[in-house]
Amino acid sequence: MNEKTVTLLIDVNAVCVFVNDQINRTVIQKLAERGVKIIALRCAGFNHVELAAAKEFNIKVVHVPAYSPHAVAEHAIAMMMTLNRKTHKAYNRVRDQNFSLNGLLGFDLHGKTVGVIGTGNIGQVFCQIMTGFGCKILAYDVHPNEALTAVGIRYVPLAEIFTQADIISLHCPLNESTRYLINDESVQQMKKGVMLINTSRGALIDTRTVIHALKSGVIGLLGIDVYEQEEKLFFRDLSEKIIKDDMISRLSSFPNVLITAHQGFFTQEALTQIALTTLATLKSYEQGDVLQNEVKL
Ligand code: NAI
Repeated sequence: MNEKTVTLLIDVNAVCVFVNDQINRTVIQKLAERGVKIIALRCAGFNHVELAAAKEFNIKVVHVPAYSPHAVAEHAIAMMMTLNRKTHKAYNRVRDQNFSLNGLLGFDLHGKTVGVIGTGNIGQVFCQIMTGFGCKILAYDVHPNEALTAVGIRYVPLAEIFTQADIISLHCPLNESTRYLINDESVQQMKKGVMLINTSRGALIDTRTVIHALKSGVIGLLGIDVYEQEEKLFFRDLSEKIIKDDMISRLSSFPNVLITAHQGFFTQEALTQIALTTLATLKSYEQGDVLQNEVKL
């Protein structure tokens, strides 16, 4: 949904939207004019909704806080494994009867230091899986999770993650304190050749800085399931179109960058849970019950 498509709505009380819909003040005002009383997000993140405007126009906002943390955590690990062992390249190579191993050299995950930023639902599962690989986990969160400390995961200042980690995975929400968390200053502290994985939100990373860091070799491997300007690209087939976004084109040109189009959530279990939670929340609203999953300013 955006400022154009919102005008197509007639006679509805609720709208159900996703991560790349632009729910800004103009859209919210138009929703209010059309009688919409509740916006149900089929996702956890709500950075794309102007909550102050929703409050002003007396529209409730609900989300799906947790559906399958495993889906996203496992996708982050799939990206990490692909980048490391280059299975995407091996797949194409072998189909072409090229059985050479040149360029496919990886490293053992066992014993590596993994920095996890954000240890909520997804970050926690991610930490547990990485522990199974025999990695040393360093975590950072504004609200440390005691369950993780109890199993030996160490919370450290952000700077220690940047300086010590061989792999950094981002699992925090996008908000004013996390926007461009990966910037010039943080990149300068990183180990040369670090692997960076972002399955959270594109704007956690300053893409221009990351492109420079890929060119200089500071970032050795990059896996992104999210991208700052993704709303103009992701979830569409643009294979016959000219891409005007030069940053995504530049990123796609690196041999050590893996991009997926926001598919971390895309498992059968997650979709089922999203549908069940959204329908249950809308039913509670209709019945006038307390809204469990309301997002408030
Ligand atoms: P959550 O709310 O359970 O956990 C987020 C954690 O980040 C919390 O522990 C919170 O304290 C922490 N946090 C907040 N501000 C922070 C800061 N400044 N520095 C460090 N940590 C901070 O959220 P959940 O379910 O784990 O999701 C994390 C993010 O993953 C979502 O916000 C969303 O952006 C993204 N996501 C991506 C999906 C995909 O398909 N790629 C699907 C679902 C979520």
